[in-house]
Amino acid sequence: MLSRMDRRHFVSALAGATAAPGLSSLLAPAPAFAPGAIRRLVDAADVAKSRGVDLIRADAPAWAGSAALDTAFASDEEFWEPVQRAFDLDRTWINLNNGGCSPAPTHVMEQLFRDLKYSNELPVIQMWRDLEPRIEIVRRELASEFGCDIEEMAITRNASESLETLIFGLDLKAGDEVVVSNQNYPRMLTAWRQRARRDGIVVKEISFPVPTTTPHLITDKFAAAITPRTKVIEFPHITNLTGQILPVHDIVAMARAKNVQVLVDGAHAFAQFPFKRDELGVDYYGTSLHKWLLAPIGTGFLYVRKDKQKSIWPLFAAGADQDDNIRKFEEIGTHPAANHNAIAVSMTFHRALGAGRKFARLTYLRDRWAKRLLAEGQGRVKILTPLDSPWGGGIGNFSVDGLDPAKLGNWLFGNHRIVNTPITHAEFSGIRITPNVYTTLDEIDRFSELVLRAIKSGIA
Ligand SMILES: Cc1ncc(COP(=O)(O)O)c(C=O)c1O
Repeated sequence: MLSRMDRRHFVSALAGATAAPGLSSLLAPAPAFAPGAIRRLVDAADVAKSRGVDLIRADAPAWAGSAALDTAFASDEEFWEPVQRAFDLDRTWINLNNGGCSPAPTHVMEQLFRDLKYSNELPVIQMWRDLEPRIEIVRRELASEFGCDIEEMAITRNASESLETLIFGLDLKAGDEVVVSNQNYPRMLTAWRQRARRDGIVVKEISFPVPTTTPHLITDKFAAAITPRTKVIEFPHITNLTGQILPVHDIVAMARAKNVQVLVDGAHAFAQFPFKRDELGVDYYGTSLHKWLLAPIGTGFLYVRKDKQKSIWPLFAAGADQDDNIRKFEEIGTHPAANHNAIAVSMTFHRALGAGRKFARLTYLRDRWAKRLLAEGQGRVKILTPLDSPWGGGIGNFSVDGLDPAKLGNWLFGNHRIVNTPITHAEFSGIRITPNVYTTLDEIDRFSELVLRAIKSGIA
């Protein structure tokens, strides 16, 4: 058990993300956390301590969990049970589409509602003067988590805004070539194609097999597509289709040697699995935070390396004096401060879980259904995601010989209230399954049993 001192330290550490010393003069009344939410996290910390892992460390950030993959906790239901209770959910559904967009924990939503209410009392003072400056605290925390300088981190509303800022912000002229993969997120492909129609750039697509367990093959394909006219490569860190992780570091190194810029779409990567900027070597990176960080809907970030900022035009105009100021990417007009401020609360939750422990749990949940379907699915199941490999994570995609994914997905959804994502790509199809930290083993098992039933008896 945690001592009372430990508990107090843990709770104040949780609050600390929004009430940092030095910036406290900028802040409106310190956020109060819902007692229930805190109690659940303290419960999880108790369980952690009884397993010999101290979530409460004296060095800052005090509550930061292990950044290493922590498999010891992956199957510890006593640890995850209070985490499951930290969300207000409709449990009459089994939500296995957290990749689209995830619910935020209850205490994150409460912070959001408090700030919205406070803003509305006197927006020009409470929102603009009191709450908006807290974006600097969020910037600091995100920069620390990603491993970049504070002056390299812009807060956006989603990955689309971050990536489109880059896609439309780079100076390119007719005939310049851009290389993408045909597994890029469709909106980014649409953005490039619009730029091709408008500016006459040339967009080339590479393709790669699913799953790919030897990702140097992907690096080689990008390398082979580069010509003397190639200026940019853009691709996802992890695909939304099958959860294939791409070798970002190697692609960046290969492209940099050829003077080609690399834009990385990290919509599904940040806070799903642990990594730092320097492990990737990227100059540009965009993500959503309403997927795996569990922040409120309408949150994201854009990282641009300091010496690259001047060369990217913002989507919303900014003055010349802001040319190399990362905040030029935040000139979006009037918007709620509540959404981006609540990112700090989600960050705290993420750190309390521990990035490594969280990823280990997501992988454990994926293996629980995927390996069972492989073992019991009469040899008809194919997993399109790398298993037992560093190139796969919490997202999994499966197909069943003889069962149409759209029909199977519809049957699971319409007849059994299981939210899933049928995927149809030109080169493969399957059903994407994305559980989350709040998903229970019973939910995973019910899904697996239904798929096995469909394999055995059909879905008619
Ligand atoms: C790989 C990838 N990139 C970008 C996006 C866009 O994210 P958002 O809609 O949050 O902007 C998604 C959304 O699913 C995605 O999967």
